[in-house]
Amino acid sequence: MTSSKTGKKRALSGIQPTHDSFHLGNFLGAVKQWVELQETHDAFYCVVDLHALTSEPNPKDLHKRTLASLAQLVALGIDPNKSTLFVQSHVTAHNQLGWVMECLTGIGEASRMTQFKDKSQKMGDDRVGVGVFTYPMLMAADVLLYQADQVPVGEDQRQHLELTRDLCQRFNSRYGQTFTMPEPYILKAGAKIFDLQDPTSKMSKSSESQSGVIELLDAPEVNRKKIKSAMTDTGREIKFDEKEKPGISNLLTIFAALSGNSVAEIESEFDGKGYGDFKGAVADVVVDYLAPIREKTLELLNDRSHLESIMRTGAEKAAEVADQTLKATYDALGLIPRA
Ligand code: TRP
Repeated sequence: MTSSKTGKKRALSGIQPTHDSFHLGNFLGAVKQWVELQETHDAFYCVVDLHALTSEPNPKDLHKRTLASLAQLVALGIDPNKSTLFVQSHVTAHNQLGWVMECLTGIGEASRMTQFKDKSQKMGDDRVGVGVFTYPMLMAADVLLYQADQVPVGEDQRQHLELTRDLCQRFNSRYGQTFTMPEPYILKAGAKIFDLQDPTSKMSKSSESQSGVIELLDAPEVNRKKIKSAMTDTGREIKFDEKEKPGISNLLTIFAALSGNSVAEIESEFDGKGYGDFKGAVADVVVDYLAPIREKTLELLNDRSHLESIMRTGAEKAAEVADQTLKATYDALGLIPRA
């Protein structure tokens, strides 16, 4: 089955609307590659609001964060005319194929998913929802519905994607060729951004302290302050050395990614200068880079009808593909089409 009329490979990815703002790690680690992929791929990007229900957000937050995610994706360069940008719950086929995937998955294999194991261990079996358990099957549905060839995700999603591939293979061999086999497109390790206060752990929305996390929608002064007080290492040289100098290396990665200069160029520019000068320069680059993105996001959030038209168009384009796959799936399973 060809996945795309354009002859381009199809890419699909999703991001959860779990926080008020994306952080720099989301952008440099994932969304920046999404923006690049839309030039070479037939790209589908979705805000996975149904997945976000597994963390039981309050309705107001979920609503606000879904719109904010969409607006930030556009502000960061996802072009709704190039990519199909949509909200997961707008395309009902996700839930429908999700059920089919659940029926195909073994309890044992679902129990081996490390994200599920971590969460259920932390929270206890009685407090963790069944949705956390079936999360990977809904994710498999997200991918398979669009006949995606490539799925740009971080390393932490590799196991979920392996399950998706197993389910794809299982369905196709039991019921006949229906889904395209997706490949993980694991995002470059170089784009991994660490917490400014704890530069050996990933910059993460769930970090205990927010002082090491650069939020895209924070005011420039807030981010400047966070960078200026980033943890640095002993010594005084501005040199990339992840082991001995994780703090400085992280700031170098950020500087390089946002300025387009290489780490070597930056190192030589700051040869003989101190940490203070360097952090000031990193702060300038970050603040200058994020300011227009923040403005564009806020502008979009104030233009509800524009956002709505983006969502409507995206959902229409997505549903066209998804409904076709769902129909083929139901036929293959022997379900009788509604007359
Ligand atoms: N589980 C992914 C994450 O937490 C989000 C996601 C949901 C996703 N559906 C997807 C990613 C489909 C890629 C493809 O990052």
